[in-house]
Amino acid sequence: MSKRNIIIAGNWKMNNGINEAKEFVLNLTEAVSLSGRVKAIICPQAPLLHTMVKYKNKNLLIGAQNMHYLDHGAYTGEISPALLSELGVTHVIIGHSERRQYYNETNQSVNLKLKTALDFHLTPIFCLGENLDQRERQETNAHLTTQLDEGLQGIAKDDVLNLQIAYEPIWAIGTGKTATNELANETISFIRQHLAALYGKEISEKIIILYGGSVSPKNLEGLLQQSDIDGALVGGASLTSDSFIKMLEIAKTIK
Ligand code: PGA
Repeated sequence: MSKRNIIIAGNWKMNNGINEAKEFVLNLTEAVSLSGRVKAIICPQAPLLHTMVKYKNKNLLIGAQNMHYLDHGAYTGEISPALLSELGVTHVIIGHSERRQYYNETNQSVNLKLKTALDFHLTPIFCLGENLDQRERQETNAHLTTQLDEGLQGIAKDDVLNLQIAYEPIWAIGTGKTATNELANETISFIRQHLAALYGKEISEKIIILYGGSVSPKNLEGLLQQSDIDGALVGGASLTSDSFIKMLEIAKTIK
């Protein structure tokens, strides 16, 4: 039995406005009481962070979807990690495949951002995963190894425990095609083994690793029952409180 926390993290992407955010937080506050290992995180669009931090209760943590690797300067349109920290944001998604695909994020920029986030005591949710071509050519493990090696370069043992990893196969994101429980677990076990090679087994056993890609209340339980999966990074199914609350209730039943 795993003693690691169970994380249900919602990535709202470029969806939900002020009214939806307020209603979501209100519904969650009324319906859910979390204690113990289950933690809930919502990552809204940046202009909503302040409102959500203000209205949330202790059951909910708030994360950003991106940040710059510097804390201030002439970078029009960017988000300062110092400001995120000041706002009371606790988590930040780094290296999501959509950022890598549409905004030229590389393993090197991801590495800089991970280090800065840790410096500001923000918990990074470090995303990695292969595309369909890589999966079909059996290049998944090699690809994940590079993403881990380059993304985590220079991050010390003491710091790596303060980050979380989200394994998100690109072919499963927003497509309705979830990886099977076995495939998701097998790949996450590989990630954990590689973390053991980098940081030692004791540390690798403590690192939180989430699965992401078309997770919903329908398939969450089977995923959470797997030995190496510690939660989910959820896009579409995190947008309404109904569906998000269902997932938290499922997570609470996991032993
Ligand atoms: P999805 O998105 O759940 O809508 O597939 C997951 C993600 O991109 O984090």
